[in-house]
Amino acid sequence: MKEKYHIVTYGCQMNLHESEKIAGILTRMGYTHTDALEKADIIVFNTCCIRENAENHAFGNIGALKKLKKEKPQLIIAVGGCMTQEVGKPELLEKKFPFIDIIFGALNFDDLESLILRKKAQKKKVVEVRQEAGEIVETTKPFRTSYPNAWVNITYGCDNFCSYCIVPYVRGRERSRKPEHIIAEVQSLVKEGYKEITLLGQNVNSYGKNGAANMNFAQLLDAVASIEGKFRLRFMTSHPKDFTEDVVAVMEKHRKICRLVHLPVQSGSNTVLQAMNRRYTREKYLDEIRMLKSRLPEAEVTSDIIVGFPGETEADYLQTESLVKEVDFASAFTFVYSPRQGTKAAEMDGQIPEDIQKDRIMRLVELVNSLTRKKSEKYVGKTIEILCEGFDEKKGMYLGRDEFGRMGYFKADENAIGRFVSLKITKANGISLYGEIVAME
Ligand code: 5AD
Ligand code: SF4
Repeated sequence: MKEKYHIVTYGCQMNLHESEKIAGILTRMGYTHTDALEKADIIVFNTCCIRENAENHAFGNIGALKKLKKEKPQLIIAVGGCMTQEVGKPELLEKKFPFIDIIFGALNFDDLESLILRKKAQKKKVVEVRQEAGEIVETTKPFRTSYPNAWVNITYGCDNFCSYCIVPYVRGRERSRKPEHIIAEVQSLVKEGYKEITLLGQNVNSYGKNGAANMNFAQLLDAVASIEGKFRLRFMTSHPKDFTEDVVAVMEKHRKICRLVHLPVQSGSNTVLQAMNRRYTREKYLDEIRMLKSRLPEAEVTSDIIVGFPGETEADYLQTESLVKEVDFASAFTFVYSPRQGTKAAEMDGQIPEDIQKDRIMRLVELVNSLTRKKSEKYVGKTIEILCEGFDEKKGMYLGRDEFGRMGYFKADENAIGRFVSLKITKANGISLYGEIVAME
């Protein structure tokens, strides 16, 4: 019988996609997937370290495996991802959880096959975390689990060094994939029937910087959007310091590109933005939104926002609230600032007490939700195009998203997954929409 694998992923889309690549490596080795942790012969943790709670979560889940490993000593437990790239973390993991078999880094997950073979040949655990990113490996075929959506990396790493962020330390310098590799990947995904492609990078707008690729981001986006076939194209994340009109012009040219830009603002206060080393001002951000909406009036913007950054005053926080209202975000991810060891912000004076952070995040979440709810209500009576991506067992309904990322639920007599559905919206409930099929492609 074939050996089975189970992967536990923490963090963002980037990590989810990296887990698809890890699944690709394991599949190539002959493993098959299992949903049941206790049935697995190898369990891989793909960790995240962007905030402390992501780390605590992984620590808790790894610790809980002690008993299983005792009952099943041949089980291989492997821990990789961003957390193992942090200074001192592999040592801490080894000490806290001596039953871990393999520790590998986010920068050398491509080596997993050889690390597993090494572990199988020896009793001793295998610890190998590469500190410097090597050449981009193009040979790992991901085992995708997100049909009809597919993620495609365009860059790895980050050079921005926002003062709160650990990503540049654990993911290394920014590297761009060659345009021909990206274009070939998207072409074959479209041929295979994928209907939504998301180009991924920490800062997509700096694609090809330093002449690493013979195209900039706008040119790449144009080339990918020119690929034939009906599919939606998204990209994330854009950085406001680099978000330029040429990208909006390409969006205007191709109806395939979703009219949604994820443009993390982080704060509405210039003092805080400067301390965060974001390299744009509130005014520049608002100018960009105006530029986007003047060319594409229907465009929506989503964002990431941090509250409780060191030194953030109530007045700074209120600047964030006022910016959120002014932009009228379609939705936003909101975070409480979490100090990360080794970053500049962790050493700053004026760390904000937890009760103030909690108060601000609660107010911000309420504000963001109220905007999202208001937008949902405007959908009632309208017909929108949904890409169906799954079936909700509890509701007994299919679900999918419109180009702005809004979730719509509906009933259908035939399998609708992977199909574009025109949906007449009959009800809005919070952020969810409910509708009836008008047409299905
Ligand atoms: N604390 C809180 N949020 C953070 N982010 C990044 N680092 C931190 C941190 N130390 C948020 C930013 C970023 C998103 C991916 O995570 O908002 O855009
Ligand atoms: Fe972190 Fe800033 Fe890079 Fe985003 S752009 S990954 S927030 S350093």
